[in-house]
Amino acid sequence: MSNNIQGIAPHGGHLVNRIATPEQREEFLSKADFLPRVQLENRAVSDLEMIAIGGFSPITGFMNQDDYNQVVSDMRLTNGVPWSIPITLSVSASEAANLTEGNLVRLDDSTGKYIGVLHLSQKYTYDKHREAVNVYRTDEEKHPGVKVVYNQGEINIAGDVWLLERSPHPYFPAYQIDPETSRLMFQEKGWKTVVGFQTRNPIHRAHEYIQKCALETVDGLFLHPLVGETKSDDIPADVRMRCYEILLEHYYPQNRVLLAINPSAMRYAGPREAIFHALIRKNYGCTHFIVGRDHAGVGDYYGTYDAQHIFDQFQPGELGITPMMFEHAFYCTRTKQMATTKTSPSTPEQRVHLSGTKVREMLRRGELPPTEFSRPEVAAELAKAMQLQLPA
Ligand code: ADX
Repeated sequence: MSNNIQGIAPHGGHLVNRIATPEQREEFLSKADFLPRVQLENRAVSDLEMIAIGGFSPITGFMNQDDYNQVVSDMRLTNGVPWSIPITLSVSASEAANLTEGNLVRLDDSTGKYIGVLHLSQKYTYDKHREAVNVYRTDEEKHPGVKVVYNQGEINIAGDVWLLERSPHPYFPAYQIDPETSRLMFQEKGWKTVVGFQTRNPIHRAHEYIQKCALETVDGLFLHPLVGETKSDDIPADVRMRCYEILLEHYYPQNRVLLAINPSAMRYAGPREAIFHALIRKNYGCTHFIVGRDHAGVGDYYGTYDAQHIFDQFQPGELGITPMMFEHAFYCTRTKQMATTKTSPSTPEQRVHLSGTKVREMLRRGELPPTEFSRPEVAAELAKAMQLQLPA
């Protein structure tokens, strides 16, 4: 645990640090050839990283059966702390048979690189259908989050973890700002209130509008795109990062925004993921968190504002971060500006609705998003990435 923590309290009170010390690392490396191995899927690699850097505080490892059950049924850890998404590591029954409770397990990434260690405290079976229905609100396998649950191993293996070392991000090292550092940076900038923004899409004008509305009432904006695993049809993270850079350069005051990557993987769990996303940003030091329309949703699985309503299931102040809710934003052709039905007198025909899905669909059809959707510099970058012909 780190003692020198700036700003609002991390979730659960302490910022977790599970990065092996040099001594631990040396010890773990000396055991490399003697420990049983488990190869992690990309999502579990992201989870390991997030646990280690404190992004998932107070979680210190993959969940045991009691915490898992309580999270799935009540959105709480057994100690009562709110937590909405199971953080688990699954293996097949045959793999589990080779692992002994009480012993260390070597964790490798998908290339076979030794990246972490699990102190195995428990092996347990779990009910995939129950997890799907409670966490994702559907048991349909075509839901990308449910699909992962149905395809993963039958046995969860639990225990505290260590990340062997914090390596620089291969593509975005300059934006790899971990919770301890973001907290310090907010303090250095003199930001007492900071709003976090989650996104997995190239930034469009509705995003910009709700970010700027939020920024009018707080000191700083923490633009925190998710760069862990996403669905194959989402826009790749490197393209999205270039779009954020371009937008910040042209349209935002430099001293009010901090861009950093969120290494987590998407679950597409809609409402439950909105709580999860808020708690992660609290750990990074944010006091506020933006929740717009269909946050972390996919397809038609969730109602437009379900991800906002779920915050009512917690007592005021209990989550320790304030959600800032926004209605569906659109470009209003009548007032010629971004708006919502709260701020615009438009008729439905006068509203140009935008979403990441629509931008992706247009790009796939070979069309450039219009200026009502995307700033021209961002549209040009997207077009370049998708190798579209720009209009003269
Ligand atoms: S998400 O899966 O990361 O939530 P996305 O990147 O599209 O997807 O959304 C980022 C944030 O912007 C979410 O809080 C979402 O609710 C919000 N948002 C996206 N589009 C709109 C819109 N047109 N109006 C209001 N909020 C929006």
